Amino acid sequence: MARPRMETVPLSGTPWSGALPGGSRAGWPGASRGAGRSAERDESVGRPGAAAHSRCHGSYGSGRTRTMTVEGSPDTKQTGRGRGRTAGEPGRQDWASWPHYDAAGSGFRGYWYPVTWSSHITGKPLPFTICGEKITLIRDGGTAYALHNRCPHRGVPLSEGDQQFPGTVSCPYHGWTFDLPTGKLSAVITDGPGCRLTGKVGVRTYPVEERLGMVWVYIPIADEEPHSIDSQLPEELVGNGFVMGGRIEPRGGNWRFACENGFDEGHAKYLHRTALWRLFKPMPTWNITRIVPKGRWIFRVQDEVHWEADYPGVGHWSNKRWWKMQPPKETFNIGNTGKADKINPTIEAQEFPGFASLSMPGVLRIAYPKFIHYEFYVPVDDDNHRYVGVMVNFTEGWKTLGFYAKYLGAVRWLFHGQFSGQDAWMVDVTDAPPEKLYRPDVSLTSWRNLSEEEYGKKLAAAGASETPNSTRDKKA
Ligand code: FES
Ligand SMILES: [Fe+2]
Repeated sequence: MARPRMETVPLSGTPWSGALPGGSRAGWPGASRGAGRSAERDESVGRPGAAAHSRCHGSYGSGRTRTMTVEGSPDTKQTGRGRGRTAGEPGRQDWASWPHYDAAGSGFRGYWYPVTWSSHITGKPLPFTICGEKITLIRDGGTAYALHNRCPHRGVPLSEGDQQFPGTVSCPYHGWTFDLPTGKLSAVITDGPGCRLTGKVGVRTYPVEERLGMVWVYIPIADEEPHSIDSQLPEELVGNGFVMGGRIEPRGGNWRFACENGFDEGHAKYLHRTALWRLFKPMPTWNITRIVPKGRWIFRVQDEVHWEADYPGVGHWSNKRWWKMQPPKETFNIGNTGKADKINPTIEAQEFPGFASLSMPGVLRIAYPKFIHYEFYVPVDDDNHRYVGVMVNFTEGWKTLGFYAKYLGAVRWLFHGQFSGQDAWMVDVTDAPPEKLYRPDVSLTSWRNLSEEEYGKKLAAAGASETPNSTRDKKA
């Protein structure tokens, strides 16, 4: 994929006037591996109009099942549609139980996706790939536009070009010039004013909105009108004041692995036990968790939290250490290391039944007592996604200074850096199906069930039976 340059952009009206340096992941093997795939990284802090940043969750590896295929070859996946389970082969050989999900390697169409920071989109067009669609983003007169990034003349990316006239973008090769709002060919510089193709051909345009300091693009199923972006955002981010910090970066691995990692029940307490973000806070050993639907979200609800255990035949295991805080006595569902004394009123008002929740088309929400962390898993292609992590603090006025200090001093390095880097590492190396799921993976299957049902309804409403392939340039 074409890797866009990473963007960094604090918002206007914040104490920060310039781009923040990229985050680092020092000295930790998982983190550095993740970082290697994400050289272009985007961080910023600011007000809702502006910034973003990142954080994590995990996935479980599938290495133990990878050797079991019908062909008996370690690296050959079964391609048949049926549930290919042969005697002696443990687990699930494919995702035929979720056909829409299985087909969504390059993403679910019919949704808004955050692409980059608003401040990175200027009069110089930039290239992006979303849901397999090559797109160029450009700003003109304060408005951001998205066009298919391919000149219909000879296929040169329009993002290689520039603006020769207001309200247009010109291809660098022969000067075909396209109207930004409509995508229509409005002039051909090298064919003179009388070019007969003018107005007759064009490139596809995409709906664009700006929220949370980011540019969002709607990827259509067909040519339908998009739904309102606010109806797709987490409810508490519409109508409440807040400040935020965030990170956007291209990452290796399919978006579904990233999404499943985000909502994965089993990994955080083990994979992240070494994260500096958790240096003084113990992580549980194992939980009893159930999945609870509420509205358009599914929640992980913890019924039991166990801080240590004896494993027959192998021994005792715990993440408790003398230098860490003592584990809480009660079970809790806001935050992941204990019950909070005080919860931010906006967060408390949401009455979240659980700590982690997930909704279409791959939006993770992790509710802490004083802030909420969101992750948007943006599909690029079968092997890549864009990670968009945002930490939101529902405070205004002078109290926001505390958020900035905490975000810039710690969160973006420890949470959105090393901690999230552990997830990036796992997402990059996950290889499933085949897979042999275990009890905590109810989080994964619940998400797949949700997406299967929701996308089935969406396709039916659009009169389509399956996600179409990449759209092509359309005639004006
Ligand atoms: S390829 Fe774009 S103008 Fe010729
Ligand atoms: Fe994680």
